[in-house]
Amino acid sequence: MLEVLAGIGRNGRTGGYQRDAWSPPELELREWFRQEADARGMDRHEDRNGNLWAWWGDPDRKPGVVTGSHLDSVREGGAFDGPLGVVSAFHAVDALRASGFTPSRPLGIVSFSDEEGARFGVPCVGSRLLTGILPPERARGLTGDDGVTLAEVMRAQGRDPAALGRDRETLARVSVFVELHIEQGRALTAPVGVAAAIWPHGRWRFDFHGTADHAGTTALADRNDPTLRYAQAVLSAREVAEKLGVVATFGKVLIQPNNANAIPSLVSAWLDARGADEDAVRRLVAELSEGQEVVCESWTPEVAFPAALRDRVAAIAGDPAPILPTGAGHDAGILASAGIPAAMLFVRNPTGVSHSPAEFAEPGDCAAGVTALAAVLADLCGE
Ligand code: GLV
Ligand code: MN
Ligand code: MN
Ligand code: MN
Repeated sequence: MLEVLAGIGRNGRTGGYQRDAWSPPELELREWFRQEADARGMDRHEDRNGNLWAWWGDPDRKPGVVTGSHLDSVREGGAFDGPLGVVSAFHAVDALRASGFTPSRPLGIVSFSDEEGARFGVPCVGSRLLTGILPPERARGLTGDDGVTLAEVMRAQGRDPAALGRDRETLARVSVFVELHIEQGRALTAPVGVAAAIWPHGRWRFDFHGTADHAGTTALADRNDPTLRYAQAVLSAREVAEKLGVVATFGKVLIQPNNANAIPSLVSAWLDARGADEDAVRRLVAELSEGQEVVCESWTPEVAFPAALRDRVAAIAGDPAPILPTGAGHDAGILASAGIPAAMLFVRNPTGVSHSPAEFAEPGDCAAGVTALAAVLADLCGE
């Protein structure tokens, strides 16, 4: 299945993926999801926040065990972040059916909409809307770099942006959620691991204003050049992050109007800051924000996955599978923070590289992930 998906949204020059929410490649992936669900005779539906669901059994009779992840990607992302969890979910259903297993609870597969926030800036839009963590009026107004809002994009795709928001009916169908994901750091040496917690993390937009002027005729002393304050912020972020033991990244920057021969009028730069210690992350942001125009675009407090479920999953997935924290954000974390029992399985990533075309997992480890996921689902569905 990953091979089928490999050509969708791929940049042939770099090997990276561009699967922004609601973009043509992402719509193609949605169609793939529908076809896989239909091929298995699963009941499928898209909820009012754009998340895709497929069911083996009737979740309105009894809440189900749900697995899945997301199909969108960061820009120039890898093949595994997201799709591995959805593909593994379908494979796990196949494995359970082939073994003659009959679930005593419905089993669901979900693909959450816009997990990465590559287009509209806020990550996990689908799961945040579903759980009510993201107010629908804020979601409707989220605007991409092209000036187009999420509401406009959804309307153009035949969806109703007025229907966005907390969805109790869909949530009531979920008794427990297990997300399988490629490990994104260098910490996992076994084929399969289990998530302990997700670091607190957030995104902040810094706007550095300057005065546009001619690059050749404006003396250095007469300039109000915002790139200098931006450069200083990047260097400070590194210094303060080292001091406080957190990580900080200015991974996205927009310069206006973006002429080689003019002093810019505005630099907008996005800070992504994370760490095990929430106070330290907040202190970093406070230090960097002093005297600056800063807007918090998203904030996700620490999520510790429920210990009993985590240990149960680890016992089934290994002997037991290693349990590790992560600095990456996930829909499972959003569901857990909304009070839905959730757990995560990680599949080893030999280089630890992610959010890059170099992201990789060995086929044998992916198969081990499916085996572990199927066993976990069987255990949870047996109740
Ligand atoms: C998403 O993968 C994130 O952690 O930023
Ligand atoms: Mn990601
Ligand atoms: Mn992901
Ligand atoms: Mn993520």
